[in-house]
Amino acid sequence: MVRLACFVNRVYPVFVLLMKRIRLSKRLIALAELIRKDASVADIGTDHGYLPVFLAQAGIAKRIIASDISAASLSAAQRSAAEFDVSEAITFLVASGLDGVTPNEADTIVIAGMGGETILSILENAPWTNNRGVTLILQPQSKIDLLCRFLYDSGYEIKQTKSVHEKGKYYTVILAVGDCGSSPQ
Ligand SMILES: C[S@@+](CC[C@H](N)C(=O)[O-])C[C@H]1O[C@@H](n2cnc3c(N)ncnc32)[C@H](O)[C@@H]1O
Repeated sequence: MVRLACFVNRVYPVFVLLMKRIRLSKRLIALAELIRKDASVADIGTDHGYLPVFLAQAGIAKRIIASDISAASLSAAQRSAAEFDVSEAITFLVASGLDGVTPNEADTIVIAGMGGETILSILENAPWTNNRGVTLILQPQSKIDLLCRFLYDSGYEIKQTKSVHEKGKYYTVILAVGDCGSSPQ
């Protein structure tokens, strides 16, 4: 038994070192940097699933949901997770917006790479996101002002914004928190 433990202690770090690691774009790194250790994360519109794969490999999130309205996109996310050996760490969901995600499953919602109007309508359809304890990490591709106005008017608090410059394009990342009711259980 002791010998087995010694073997595992020696071999496991080597295995971790040899694991194929995902490399994120600057834009996705900017999102990942805002995620708290041990967060329960739902990545809505995950597409390729790179962010969930990174979070799983880095051991940042304690729970990860990767969701997309498109079954083809979700299959791509599942392939990414398999390629990087983290399929078991991620729950995959084909759904529109936050349908299928309950408040006790996610305290951190990432919605990135979509138009501001789509992000706005996803949040409108999930009023539970406007609760204390829910963190939103948003990266609208368009209509940033419209989305900020919606967040402000609905009582979300914008805690931070940052810009990312990648391949000649500028992206805005918004960190907002809900401001009503109680924390999700
Ligand atoms: C351009 S990709 C962004 C992928 C990734 N989030 C990123 O930032 O790199 C947009 C994804 O959002 C998905 N999508 C669009 N509308 C959606 C909705 N209402 N609910 C869930 N996913 C949606 C699309 O199917 C697509 O896979």
